[in-house]
Amino acid sequence: MSANAHDSATKFRIGATCQELTRAALAAIHAPSVLNTQPWRWRITHDTALLYADQTRRLTVMDPTGRLLVISCGGALHHACVTLAADGVDFEVEPFPGAGDPDLLAVVRYRGVADPSAWAQRLYHAIRARRTDRRPFAGQPVPQEFVDRLCQAAQRTRAHLHMTWARDITDLALAAGQASEALMSDPAYRAELAAWVRRPGEGHDGVPLDTLAPLGTRPVPMRDFTATGLGWGATSRIDLSDREARYGVVVTDGDSPPDWLAAGVTLSAVLLAATSQHLATSPMSDLVEHEVARRTLRRMLGGVGYPAVGVRIGWPGPGEPPPPSPRRPAAEVIQVVADEIKDTEPDTPGKSA
Ligand SMILES: Cc1cc2nc3c(=O)[nH]c(=O)nc-3n(C[C@H](O)[C@H](O)[C@H](O)COP(=O)(O)O)c2cc1C
Repeated sequence: MSANAHDSATKFRIGATCQELTRAALAAIHAPSVLNTQPWRWRITHDTALLYADQTRRLTVMDPTGRLLVISCGGALHHACVTLAADGVDFEVEPFPGAGDPDLLAVVRYRGVADPSAWAQRLYHAIRARRTDRRPFAGQPVPQEFVDRLCQAAQRTRAHLHMTWARDITDLALAAGQASEALMSDPAYRAELAAWVRRPGEGHDGVPLDTLAPLGTRPVPMRDFTATGLGWGATSRIDLSDREARYGVVVTDGDSPPDWLAAGVTLSAVLLAATSQHLATSPMSDLVEHEVARRTLRRMLGGVGYPAVGVRIGWPGPGEPPPPSPRRPAAEVIQVVADEIKDTEPDTPGKSA
C-alpha cells in the first residue's frame, strides 16, 4: 500500500471497490507468461486498476520487440477481467489509454455491480488449476465439440484462434524445425534460456526444471530446453509420440502492441476454457520468435493475419500433473494506493478495510 507524503493525522482507507480490483490483480498473478517472466505491474487506485508492462523483465534476445511481453500482460489482463466478471463486477477496459506512458497497457475501470457471469465463474475456477503441461498428451483424440468450445471462447475476444488441421502438421513441424535451428544456433538465445530455467524451489520466477518434459519424437517438436545444460527434472516412460495433440494459433489483425495485448487476452481465454474442460495445454511461442518460422506460419494461414503465439491442446498424459510454477510475491507486482479520507467524511469503521 502506498500513502505518499502526508502528516500523521491524515487517514486512509482501502474501499470496497479498490479491494475488488486488488482481488482481480491477485488472480492475474497466476497468468502464464513467456519463460514465467511475469512482466507486469498493477497500480490500483480507488476505482481503477492500471496494468503496466515491466520492461526490466523483457527477454532481450528472444523478444526484442516486446511482443511476447505484451502477450503475457494480455493474459494477466484477461485473468483480472474473468475474476471481476465472476465476482459480479461491472467494469470497462481501456487498452493503451496513452497518458504519455507507453508501458501503460490498460486501465480497468470499476463501474458498479453486475450479475456474476456463470461463464466467467467457470473460467475463474480454472485459473488455479491451469498449468503449462509440456508432457506428451494421452493417445485419445480431442472431440470436435471440445475444440468448438475453445473457438467460442476465443470469439468473445478481439484476436482469433485458428485451429489447425491434420494437413497443417507439415507446416507446423517445418516452422518448429526452422525456429529450433535458428534459435539453438544462437549462443545469446541459449544463454537467455538457461538463465530462466530454475531448479525446483529456486526463486519466484522462471521455468522450474521439474515442469519440463522429454522431447521425444513428436509430430511438432517443442522448444528445446536442453540448452540449459541442467538435464531433465522429470523422466518418463510414457508414449512420447504426442500424436493426438491439437494445435491452435492465436492470430491478430495487425502486428502492433494493441494487437499483442489482444492476443494475450485470447490466449488466456483459450487456455482457461481448455482447463475448464479438463484439457491440458502448453503455449508455444518458439514458432513465432524467428522471422523465418513466423513466415511459414503466415503462409499456412493463407497470409491472413499475424500469428502471435501457438498453443498445443490435448488430454493430459498419465501420472501427476506438472507442479505449479512459482509466482512473484504480490507486493512486488501490485501497488495499492489507499484513498485519503476527507475531513468532511465520517470515519465509519464499517466502511474501512
Ligand atoms: C506468450 C507466451 C509464450 C510462451 N511460450 C512457451 C514456449 O514456447 N514453450 C513452452 O514450453 N512454454 C511457453 N509458455 C508457457 C510459459 O513457460 C509458462 O506460462 C510459465 O512457465 C508459467 O507456467 P504455468 O503456465 O504452468 O503457470 C509461454 C507462455 C506465454 C504466455
